[in-house]
Amino acid sequence: MTDTVLSVRNLTTSFRSAAGPLTAVNDVSFDVRQGEVMGLVGESGSGKSVTLRSIMRLLPRGAQIGGTVTWAGQDLLKLSDAGIRAVRGGQISMIFQEPMTALNPVLPIRIQITENLRAHTDLDANGRAARARELLDIVGIPDAARRLDEFPHQFSGGMRQRAMIAIALASNPRLLLADEPTTALDVTIQDQILNLILDLRDEFGMSVVFVTHDLGVVAATCDRMAVMYAGRIVETGTVADVFARPNHAYTRGLLGSVPQAGAERSMLLSIEGTPPGLAAIPPGCAFNPRCTFAGDTCRTTRPELTSLGPDRSVACHHNDAVVQAGSPVA
Ligand SMILES: Nc1ncnc2c1ncn2[C@@H]1O[C@H](COP(=O)(O)OP(=O)(O)OP(=O)(O)O)[C@@H](O)[C@H]1O
Ligand code: SF4
Ligand SMILES: [Mg+2]
Repeated sequence: MTDTVLSVRNLTTSFRSAAGPLTAVNDVSFDVRQGEVMGLVGESGSGKSVTLRSIMRLLPRGAQIGGTVTWAGQDLLKLSDAGIRAVRGGQISMIFQEPMTALNPVLPIRIQITENLRAHTDLDANGRAARARELLDIVGIPDAARRLDEFPHQFSGGMRQRAMIAIALASNPRLLLADEPTTALDVTIQDQILNLILDLRDEFGMSVVFVTHDLGVVAATCDRMAVMYAGRIVETGTVADVFARPNHAYTRGLLGSVPQAGAERSMLLSIEGTPPGLAAIPPGCAFNPRCTFAGDTCRTTRPELTSLGPDRSVACHHNDAVVQAGSPVA
């Protein structure tokens, strides 16, 4: 489990605006190892989707992407358009937050799945047809044999999401970038899809970057996690360690807003205020206006992401005080 398959370094993505460039992802670095599930968490607008889309180079024209994304010895950000297309959907698949982005509206679902199977597996026509049915079954689309011949617009929103997951997994990708893959789905289907992803990890050593708002899902699914705030990674570590000893005040706040299983009534440590807009990221630590641990340095000097040991890093001037305050979920 120590082989790094994806190495993201200093990833920085900006969008043009009338007021000048707006930086949505700022100096983000992380590694993903073979067969691991890496969780990426943070509030809405923190840059999770832009991070995944930058890796796949699926951003609107005009977006500026800097840094390096090393995959199989090559920098994905430097590949030709044909080169990146060959990687996308084959070696690396993405499950999008908005399913319609990924589905072709004029092709029946069957073709979209079997084309992927044809391009990326050795299955013959019968094998592809059977696998397509099986994949729809696994993602919880009833009456799969009939529904395979329908078009995306004939599916409900949740079914489109599931069809997209089936397409993304059809190619047995080596890396899956999953952007809130199950948020809109009911709990039973959510469990089934999470189990399918974990099975593919176990069987084929697939690696996963898993974006979610749901820290319960992180606890159940991920090996390591990175927490994002205002476009930067503020804390990384194994899930067990981050949950037991959050070092960043924002992580501690996120953990505090998870309802505790079994507790009849628990005070949620909600984080006051809202995340900053890209045009108004506060100087110093971006979290300082909302942070109960903030001191003068926090308002003037940005804390660098600093290693605390293998697999563990934090960007906080007062992480000792945060650790001292204890984990709300320990
Ligand atoms: N195409 C774009 N042009 C301009 N700004 C964008 C574009 N796409 C994203 N942004 C901005 O980049 C920031 C990060 O967006 P992103 O979609 O990565 O957030 P997120 O963490 O995925 O949030 P959510 O949890 O709501 O999905 C936001 O402020 C968003 O408005
Ligand atoms: S650096 Fe300061 S403001 Fe930022 S999280 Fe740590 S204590 Fe809070
Ligand atoms: Mg998103």
